[in-house]
Amino acid sequence: LPELPYPRDALAPHMSAETLDFHYGKHHKKYLDTANEIIPGTEYESMALEDIIMKSSGKLFNQVAQVWNHSFFWNCLTPNSGEPGKALADALIKNFGGIEDFKKKFSDVAAGTFGSGWAWLVKNSDGSLEIMSTANAGTPMTEGKTALLTCDVWEHAYYIDYRNARPTYLEHFWALVNWDFVEQNLG
Ligand code: FE2
Repeated sequence: LPELPYPRDALAPHMSAETLDFHYGKHHKKYLDTANEIIPGTEYESMALEDIIMKSSGKLFNQVAQVWNHSFFWNCLTPNSGEPGKALADALIKNFGGIEDFKKKFSDVAAGTFGSGWAWLVKNSDGSLEIMSTANAGTPMTEGKTALLTCDVWEHAYYIDYRNARPTYLEHFWALVNWDFVEQNLG
């Protein structure tokens, strides 16, 4: 399991240490453990994680995609959020009309994702940015898109801190976004 880029209590009060204990320490770990039970002795044994995601399906895909999605999600968060840098801000303005417009559209997609899934800011092969939602373990790389930012909207991401109130969780999510990481992914 990759180390978190911050201590487990660093995201409080927006995301509690208890949430990190369960979400990172149990849910994320369980996806990794299950993948490690399935993979030995298969063609996937010596493949990189991304290659397994692209080539697997069913139960194994669900585990490895969730391992990648969660590692990416933790990197999208930071206790020192700040504001988007110039290159990212320009791209958000160009594609969505403004930074607040982007946040509103992203939050709407996250809030409107039915059941378990993820909201994403992605870059298409033509360089355009897009907000999308994936269900369950779905991940943009299988659609040829580059992930820039994600928000986990599985209930396990917010039930400890906000119970069923996904919109409240989303408000707090914006206080934690690692804009430097998002801009780095923009390339
Ligand atoms: Fe999760």
